[in-house]
Amino acid sequence: MSALPRRDWRARAVRAMRRGRRGLGLCAVVLLSAAAAAQDADVGRTKATPCLACHGPEGNSPTPLIPVLAGQTARYIYLELRDMKEGRRDVAAMMPFIQGLSKDDMLDLGAFFAGQTPHDTGFKTDPAKVTRGQAKAVETLCTMCHLGGMKGQNEVPRVAGQHHDYVVKQLQDFRAGRRTNDAGTMSSVSKTLSEDDMDALANYLESLD
Ligand code: HEC
Ligand code: HEC
Repeated sequence: MSALPRRDWRARAVRAMRRGRRGLGLCAVVLLSAAAAAQDADVGRTKATPCLACHGPEGNSPTPLIPVLAGQTARYIYLELRDMKEGRRDVAAMMPFIQGLSKDDMLDLGAFFAGQTPHDTGFKTDPAKVTRGQAKAVETLCTMCHLGGMKGQNEVPRVAGQHHDYVVKQLQDFRAGRRTNDAGTMSSVSKTLSEDDMDALANYLESLD
């Protein structure tokens, strides 16, 4: 009777060792895919050529209503491209450039833009609005999701240094229900904001690097 539990234990140990070896195999896969990710950004650079006409050199858009993509999180870029292609976010101007993109293309584009350095947009912030926007951001707990410095993480976008006019438009779109691909987060946040709040918050975000 007592031998049985011991055999069980040995069998478990062997299974654990096998799992361990599989674990090592997994490590190798992770390392390999890290190497692949490094290449993706280079491939992404080539695929990004048509995008730069609107989004600017290396994703530093010179146009107030076209978002800066430089330094945006790779995951967020991928999700937005997917949402646009599948009709969950309506950006008519981009549709001709999106339709032919595969999942790999979108991941490569995300890797490329995430690796670029965002530059100052040149917008002249109003110091009084920056102060008011910062207070509003604290009150509304923006950093709970967008993190300190509003630099974002994974599916939460970087909004630090984003164009003032683009930010105001997105907040208005969320509030009006014209942009609905946010799983409800920004739709509810934006309902608490007035036009002045949005302008102040956008000034505050422009003041961040
Ligand atoms: C004809 C101009 C144009 C071209 C070309 C273009 N875009 Fe855009 N893109 C826009 C505009 C305008 C918006 C913002 C739409 C809005 O107000 O919601 C946008 C938004 C985005 C967003 C969402 C960013 C955010 O912060 O939410 C991503 C990601 C994006 N574009 C990636 C790309 C990629 C990748 C390409 C190339 C395959 C591309 N775009 C080509 C005009 C363009
Ligand atoms: C509960 C989490 C949460 C909070 C709180 C939050 N956000 Fe967001 N925000 C998100 C997510 C998630 C998205 C991306 C939605 C999507 O996938 O389209 C987003 C998107 C945005 C965008 C659009 C960015 C772009 O590039 O298009 C802006 C601007 C923004 N948030 C500003 C703010 C501001 C300002 C506050 C505080 C007043 C705030 N957010 C509070 C989660 C949050």
